[in-house]
Amino acid sequence: MEEIRSIQWFPGHMTKTRRKIESQLKLIDAVAVLLDARVPYSSCNPDLRSVINNKPRLVVLNKCDMADPSETKKWLALFRRKNIAAIALDCKSGKGLNAFIPTVKNVLADRIKAWNEKGMTGRTIKVMVVGIPNVGKSSFINRMSKQNRAKVEDRPGVTRGNQWYTIGKGFDLLDTPGVLWPKFDDPLVGEKLAFIGSVKDEILDTEHLSARLLEYLRDNYPDPLCARYKLDKQDIMPMRGYEMLEAVGRRRGMLISGGEIDTERAAATVLDEFRSAVLGKLTIDGAEDHPDVRI
Ligand code: G4P
Repeated sequence: MEEIRSIQWFPGHMTKTRRKIESQLKLIDAVAVLLDARVPYSSCNPDLRSVINNKPRLVVLNKCDMADPSETKKWLALFRRKNIAAIALDCKSGKGLNAFIPTVKNVLADRIKAWNEKGMTGRTIKVMVVGIPNVGKSSFINRMSKQNRAKVEDRPGVTRGNQWYTIGKGFDLLDTPGVLWPKFDDPLVGEKLAFIGSVKDEILDTEHLSARLLEYLRDNYPDPLCARYKLDKQDIMPMRGYEMLEAVGRRRGMLISGGEIDTERAAATVLDEFRSAVLGKLTIDGAEDHPDVRI
């Protein structure tokens, strides 16, 4: 096995965002926690639970078009077992979005009943959307408000101001005040976020990262990996990640002068093909490996 290296990236602490979210909590009824369906554990900020305190919440597993459908099912079941409402959707096609408003109403059923009893029928429901950079918050809000008002940028960590969006009669979304960073203390979490492209590649050793990804895929998804790069399952089983990277480069004819394998190019290809789901719909946080996930 290649060694696990910590991602040397320090996104700054959470104090500012925590304060901003806390100051907005009194204005909202519920929190929608967006997670990346490929990494529902690693894309979950572990401080979030204490920040949102007792607010009603629901989990939205976004980008499920790129995740392993059987794992997504397991994740949904896991959250529901913990009495956390959870839905899976994708903002690329819009699949699953229709379940959002009914799910929020379900989560808030008791409160809505109480409002109605007090004659506050038609009171606007306000939901704050939170999630780490790049998880798809802008895309989600855009989709839900059906207008291109939320700016979508593929730059991890782009800060935005507070904004409210009306997504239907009596239903408003609040974009996260501040940036909710993931936690990088656990090197595996940092690595998985790097696999999916949530860490700038410029600060990463992409050959090492790609070698680690190949090891993960060999151990968890050997068939799509072998099919894509025409590798033999038996051959790759004893290999280290870097050897697999060379095997991919060789298969793809990626050579530099002197006949050496261009492992840098092979690394870029593997990361690219994984991130764009060309390698398949793959989930790299297994639900069974994280039974105590808490939101
Ligand atoms: P953020 O506000 O949380 O930072 O995330 P944002 O919506 O900016 O989305 C980050 C990237 O993820 C964008 O990619 C967006 O298109 C993509 N994305 C969001 N939701 C989904 C989804 O459900 N499925 C897939 N496959 N991709 C999703 P980008 O490279 O900027 O894309 P684009 O501008 O080329 O569309």
